Amino acid sequence: MADFEVLAGIHQGLFLVLVFTALIPTLKAKALVYQPTRRALAKKARWTLFFVWLSVLAFAGQLFVTWAFFQSFGWLYIRDKALGFLPLMVVPLLSVLFISLPRLWQLAAKLDKSKEKPSYIVDNPDLSLLSEDAAASEMAELLPSDNAQPSDPELVDADLRKVASAPELIVPLQASVLGSLTACFLQFFYPAVTLEPAILLLAWGVLVAGTSALWIMQSWRQQRCFRPGEWKPPAPFLRFLRGTAVLLLVSAGIVFWGNQALLASKLPEQFKITDHTNIDTGHGTGLFAHAQSAHAGHDRASSAIQTVSVADLTGPREGEADRQFKLTAQKATVRLPSGKTMEAWTFNGQYPGPELRIKQGELVEVVLENKDIADGVTIHWHGLNVPNAEDGVAGATQDAVLPGEKHVYRFIAEQAGTFWYHSHQQASVQVRKGLFGALVIEPAASAQGADSSIRDLTVIHHKPKGEGATINGADTLAMQTVSPGTPVRLRFINAENLPVTYQLCGISFQVVAIDGNEVNEPNLIANQALELAAGGRYDLYFTMPDRPVLFAQAGKGKTGEKGLLLSPDGRGESPALQDNLPLFDPARYGAPMALPFDSNSPFDREYQMLFDVAFGMYDGRFDGLWTINGQVFPYTPMMMVSEGDLVKMTFVNRSFMDHPMHLHGHHMLVLTRNGKPVTGSPWWTDTLNVAPGETYEVAFRADNPGLWMDHCHNQDHAALGMSMHLLYEGVTSPYEAGHATRNHPE
Ligand code: C2O
Ligand code: CU
Repeated sequence: MADFEVLAGIHQGLFLVLVFTALIPTLKAKALVYQPTRRALAKKARWTLFFVWLSVLAFAGQLFVTWAFFQSFGWLYIRDKALGFLPLMVVPLLSVLFISLPRLWQLAAKLDKSKEKPSYIVDNPDLSLLSEDAAASEMAELLPSDNAQPSDPELVDADLRKVASAPELIVPLQASVLGSLTACFLQFFYPAVTLEPAILLLAWGVLVAGTSALWIMQSWRQQRCFRPGEWKPPAPFLRFLRGTAVLLLVSAGIVFWGNQALLASKLPEQFKITDHTNIDTGHGTGLFAHAQSAHAGHDRASSAIQTVSVADLTGPREGEADRQFKLTAQKATVRLPSGKTMEAWTFNGQYPGPELRIKQGELVEVVLENKDIADGVTIHWHGLNVPNAEDGVAGATQDAVLPGEKHVYRFIAEQAGTFWYHSHQQASVQVRKGLFGALVIEPAASAQGADSSIRDLTVIHHKPKGEGATINGADTLAMQTVSPGTPVRLRFINAENLPVTYQLCGISFQVVAIDGNEVNEPNLIANQALELAAGGRYDLYFTMPDRPVLFAQAGKGKTGEKGLLLSPDGRGESPALQDNLPLFDPARYGAPMALPFDSNSPFDREYQMLFDVAFGMYDGRFDGLWTINGQVFPYTPMMMVSEGDLVKMTFVNRSFMDHPMHLHGHHMLVLTRNGKPVTGSPWWTDTLNVAPGETYEVAFRADNPGLWMDHCHNQDHAALGMSMHLLYEGVTSPYEAGHATRNHPE
């Protein structure tokens, strides 16, 4: 498979190139009429021809890249290009080939011949390049003014000027510039244009109207310059002035449009996430949406549906908690082991927040207090399928907790595994600042796998803003003594925005859990690097050898100076990181087992999510936006489900960055990656990294009613629009988000 970034980069870059390759012959063609002599005109025409062919060649190159794209990645990756952008260029280009080109050819070739016989054309009007304009030419010859000043055969006369300035010659070229500009604009600003037929229509409107206007203007121009005798090419200074005026006008238009778009992009001051206009029922929508085989019949209950408020979907409110925690959000100056200090936002003054350890089945109560985080905080239990009201999303499941306020979360720890918690108010800022921590649910004491001899260690990777990465809050190598023969469970959590790659050096190991879900029959592996999605978790298991073991971030420039060193005696040489290890692949690891559903199950709802990057305005600023089906939050689709539905989602990443898709409240089963089924252990995940050019199909059972976020866990992407929601029929929310409220979930 060709490299996605390279192919997509070339494809996108070519759209810019094509604007220029269309512009050059157009400018040259427009200057044809200014040529004083036939020889100069012929030369100019030849150059114009050359550049026309060049632009045709460049376009053929683009077609080839599109084809290669299709071959490697499939229809969804080129749909917008093939149906949206390329036709805007093909149509003008065809008219260039069939209308402009023959005229240019005549000018270049026949005038060229006339070098030897300058009078040939003039003497034989029938054979002249002006054959179609023969009548006009004869007329011109009859005109007295022409007779009065006998024409110099070397000079360009009115007839030639008429041909050189014909709209048929010039306008197709101009249209090709307009078409490639429009295509380029769409590619960068509306990459998912096939989902927005209105914009596509507008683009064609611009092309047709623009071309018509250009035709009219060129006809006037032609009339001015073929009137014999009285025409003089405008002074270069005038031409310059005119060009500048056009440029100024265009710039003014862009500034005006930009300003309007800026204002229009302002997010609503106050809105309910549930009051959504862009509803996706998962039954296939939109002009170009592919046919979906959704089952009829799940709207069964829609009339009889009972409404329930998010606020009522709580965990057990009564009863004494088995485990109580108090987390106080507060600012603190944190001193890192290297001696560096950092202004952090913390839970209980710690960076990261305290690790919460719970036993499976326990009723947990967490009291969140906010001491001094002015914008308010919440806590989301990442990966735990808690009841909706306990999910901790500001504006969706609760109001942000302002300084001096508190909020109580209560839920039963139903899943054993490795999770983490973090604020879900201004998450892109607050998680970076330190409002997060590890959350470990150990198997109940009686349960299988509850082994007290295990050394259970957590490694939480994070990257504070403007700082280097930290591991468990440390920016140096941490050492722990573990006696040989001890079973070790290493819980690896990625709390930064990008996927990270780690190595466990010096030992073979198993990956026993992914995102808190046990892997079936995990085999022993060695010499594989672990790339973990932002927000994801891997649990590793091994028996401590009689030599040191290093767990550290690998990759370019990494030397193992940070990380965790386990040593049998508290000393010893750290094993070295290895270069270019293959990556652990969860799609082909462990053993298959019976599944509750698979690719062939009858799905009640099917959603397709196309991820793009587009330039545009978001909430009053210009930025690169991360779009889902061409939209940014809160205009991204709201996925509707009914309780009990089996839901399939397809993620298609057409952008240039990884998107770790995190669905709250549910676990997704990965069905296929790039069309190939998962062959190993069932791969359950709550945070799935979708790399550029990757397509994943996942499925989940809608069994946890509420309003749930589904977003990219690169929090910066979520803050720039890459966020959507899953809403159960009949669920309402009393909470609001927006500038005028206290709630800012991203
Ligand atoms: Cu870990 Cu919606 O987040
Ligand atoms: Cu993303």
